[in-house]
Amino acid sequence: MELRVKRAPRIDTEISVPGDKSISHRAAIIAALSNGICTLRGFLPSEDCMHTVNALRALGIQIDQPEPDVLVVHGKKRVLTPPAHDIDCGNSGTTMRLLAGLLAGQTFESRLVGDASLSRRPMDRVIAPLRQMGANIVAEGPEHTPPLRIHGGSLKGIHYRSPIASAQVKSAILLAGMFAKGKTTIDEPSVSRNHTELIFNYFLVRTAKPEDGCISVFGGQIPESRDFDIPGDLSSAAFWLVAAAAQPGGHLLVRHVGLNDTRTALLGVLVRMGAQVREAIEDVDQLEHRGVIEVTGAPLKGTVIQGKEVPMLIDELPALAVAGALANGTTIIRHAAELRVKETDRIAAIAHNLRIMGVQVIEMTDGLEIHGPAPLRGAKLASFGDHRIAMAFAIAGLFADGDTIIQDADCIRTSYPGFESVLEEFVSPKRMTSTTPVIGSLSPARLEEA
Ligand code: S3P
Repeated sequence: MELRVKRAPRIDTEISVPGDKSISHRAAIIAALSNGICTLRGFLPSEDCMHTVNALRALGIQIDQPEPDVLVVHGKKRVLTPPAHDIDCGNSGTTMRLLAGLLAGQTFESRLVGDASLSRRPMDRVIAPLRQMGANIVAEGPEHTPPLRIHGGSLKGIHYRSPIASAQVKSAILLAGMFAKGKTTIDEPSVSRNHTELIFNYFLVRTAKPEDGCISVFGGQIPESRDFDIPGDLSSAAFWLVAAAAQPGGHLLVRHVGLNDTRTALLGVLVRMGAQVREAIEDVDQLEHRGVIEVTGAPLKGTVIQGKEVPMLIDELPALAVAGALANGTTIIRHAAELRVKETDRIAAIAHNLRIMGVQVIEMTDGLEIHGPAPLRGAKLASFGDHRIAMAFAIAGLFADGDTIIQDADCIRTSYPGFESVLEEFVSPKRMTSTTPVIGSLSPARLEEA
């Protein structure tokens, strides 16, 4: 599929976004391990999350889907059955890495396979700690890449100091830790998203925080079945937030969106760049904060994104790079080498596409230097099969002269079904109405340190 984008007229609307991808994966997994029936509302029915659902089904878990965004998961008290076939993780790194942790503690053999992109992604980051715990796990591809053959068994708790801040690695170890003897602790160099810890607590799986940056889980626990409402995905909202922020006078409200503070660093960056951003947490009953974000656009200025901020906005960097191209001055993104091992090499992909649109960009090993503001030229752009590249450059197209065509845009379905219809509303607003100003009932967005 090709996506054709035109320059957007004034943005003044409100939207909601589909369920959070990271939370959807975790909610399905923990519900499957629980001791009863869990209804998960707001589930993200994207290709990535459906790979996790189908994997759990292949492991003997009954999962009903009465509506696209509702799952009824019949937990089987941690009992999984051997899969009849290879488990297909599609394009989803989260599925493969979290399942590797889960399967490391099972007594049967399983094999995890992925599409061409996932088959190029590094798995040593989960293989090394899981082997230390006692799992028999082998990467069949070159240089520790998938498929993964896992023959689990009796695991022992370890204290693992991870060289990278990665929620996927942390979650794989914590899931394996549930099946290990004793206590399993993971220590990260800086904070990564904390959905697994929160969901463990919500399902009454005991964890401990021995020190800052560390999280432990105790083996042998069965999660208590719970129902759960999943908030909207801030990483999906990010594309629209950047568009509104970069359009002086643009105005956008995003409702029912997750406001977990390990995910909101994007808002601080947009404030640094000059946009007006406010947020209000509306729901504190649930384990994950959710609420509303309001953005008013302004002429943006360049910024520096680096250090501990990076793991907390890693998925938002393609959209922020587009903001950088539209901003006055230089935007520097550093310490983001992880972008090179996402669904594609995102540093190379961003640099390539921005240059085609007429932006001066310097590619660094671990980031980008983007010289704005550039009058963006509409162009034919590759998605590189990467959903976030496709969506970020669709947003760039909203600011370009002439049409922008994103080729091979089907990949958007891996994380954001329905993206195209919101895009259509931004390009030719039909239903758009002026939104009720809510400033005053909102508190200023948290400012994250650079
Ligand atoms: C995710 C963690 C991040 C993120 C990915 C989802 C998760 O990856 O980029 O889209 O749900 O745990 P890393 O753990 O590799 O940083």
